[in-house]
Order: sequence, then C-alpha cells, then structure tokens
Amino acid sequence: MDVEVAVIPAAGRGTRMRPATRVVPKALLTVVDRPAIQYAVEEAARAGASEAVIVVDLDTGHLVQQHFLVEGRLPGLEEIRIRPVVQEEPLGLGHAVWEAREMVRDRPFFCLLADNITPPGVDVLPQLARVADPDKSVMCLRRLSDEMLSAYGVVIPASEEEDAVLEIAGAVEKPGPKDAPSRLGLIGRYLFTPEIFPILEKTEPGVGGEIQLTDAIHELGRRGKARGYVADTDLLDVGTPLGLLEASVVLGLDRFGDEFRSFLKEVCGH
Ligand code: UTP
Repeated sequence: MDVEVAVIPAAGRGTRMRPATRVVPKALLTVVDRPAIQYAVEEAARAGASEAVIVVDLDTGHLVQQHFLVEGRLPGLEEIRIRPVVQEEPLGLGHAVWEAREMVRDRPFFCLLADNITPPGVDVLPQLARVADPDKSVMCLRRLSDEMLSAYGVVIPASEEEDAVLEIAGAVEKPGPKDAPSRLGLIGRYLFTPEIFPILEKTEPGVGGEIQLTDAIHELGRRGKARGYVADTDLLDVGTPLGLLEASVVLGLDRFGDEFRSFLKEVCGH
C-alpha cells in the first residue's frame, strides 16, 4: 500500500524530561546533531510519505515548524511537506491524532511518535505498509518484559502469529503483568485507516485522564479492523533522560564509528 501522509504527535508535556523541557519542546531536544523529531520526519520520508502533519502545542509549535522551514528545506527532506497542526491542550495521544483529521481526510496514514527513534539501518513503516489491508489498521508491536507491561499499551491477540503478523481483538493501556492480555506491546509506529477518527471522536478519557490512542485501537480490534506486526527490533525511546542518553550513544556510534567507540571504552575503563 502507498501511504502519502504521516502524522507525528509532538504536543505532549514532556514532564519526564524536565527541566530540559521547561522552554524547549521535547521534540526539539538534540540527539547527536538534530532534534528528535527530525528523525521521525526523515523516517516518514524514507517510507514514501510526501506530507508530515506534525501535531504541536500552542506555545512552542512555531519553533518546531521553523526548524524545518528556516533557510529553505533540510537536505533529504525536500520532497516532504511539513504541515503543523495545533493541539491547544495536551488531552492525550488519542486527542493529538484526532487533531490531524482535517489534514489527513479520507487517506490511510502512518503515525509515528517522535519519542521513539528507529535504530540506524532499521525501518518498520515499510513492513506495516507491506502487511496492510485497505480495511485494517496495522500496529507495530514488540515483545515486552514484565516491567514494561506497566508502561505500554498491550494488545489482545485474535490469531496466532504467522510470519510476524497477527490479528488483534483489542488493546489495554498499561495493564501491568497481572492483567496483561499478552506480552505484545504497542511501540509508537502505526498505519491507520481513517476509520480511527470517528472512533477517537467518541473515545472518553481513560488511563491518567487522557484520551488514549490505545482505547481507539481497542475499538478497531473489537470491529475486526486491527492487525499487528511484531518487529524484531526495539525502538530507541528518547522521552526519558536515560533513554535519550542511550539513543545518543547508539546513533553517535553509527555517526562517528571508531573515534567514539574508543572514547566510550576509555570512559568505561576497558
Ligand atoms: P508521552 O505520554 O510519552 O508524552 O506521549 P508526554 O506526555 O510528552 O511525556 P511525559 O509523560 O509528560 O514525559 C507520547 C507521544 O504523544 C505526544 C507526545 O508529544 C509524544 O510524542 N502527545 C502526548 C501529544 O502530542 N499530545 C498529548 O496530549 C499527549
């Protein structure tokens, strides 16, 4: 399936990255030499998207937009149109995606959380497009450890996994190990059909009082309209201080190779 539009929600509060995010939006925190969100836009462009709808907050949204548009287009991003849309209040990830409805209209769309960066050389959006069905949304999944079952949305499988693909009957946000319906978690890459928008419109606030994307995915599953793709790689999570550090090391090694590797060895004492 060809997908021309990508929605990138970037309007969250970023409380886990305080004090860095007191003024600077989380999406503009630097990883090696570019802001986190640029990796997401580059990933969407590599997957063939020609439009990136970035959901930004009212106060700092203009900075995100400026990053992509000052002094002409960024190299490698000449072909993708940046379209900001404002989420006036951080009512939740589901609400942020819903804000993109008028720009997406009736098209299928990739959704990428800018907090998650794919490791160098890894791309999952083409896999989602490969297993897509015009009538079904596809979620990228990974196997979770016990501790992670309290931090992610976890899916209810509706079929066996075959060649990394399974049908999904629903999803639960942050269930914890006791109530988790499986060990397969939602990891911030999706290919949605526009059917998600009317569902989001009716989704009530859930866990944490936020309008949860996971609850809308649950409804898609209930209707038999959700499929999962189990990725064989982790994404880098730059939404926490330790995650940001780890991502900087992984991407720094890719960028600077042996020079940086020797520095790390020296710091680690071997
Ligand atoms: P997170 O829950 O990780 O982001 O949302 P957050 O709320 O910014 O983080 P903390 O918990 O306060 O540290 C995942 C993604 O959804 C976006 C965020 O920007 C992030 O990319 N998001 C979340 C929105 O765009 N709007 C929201 O209301 C909530």
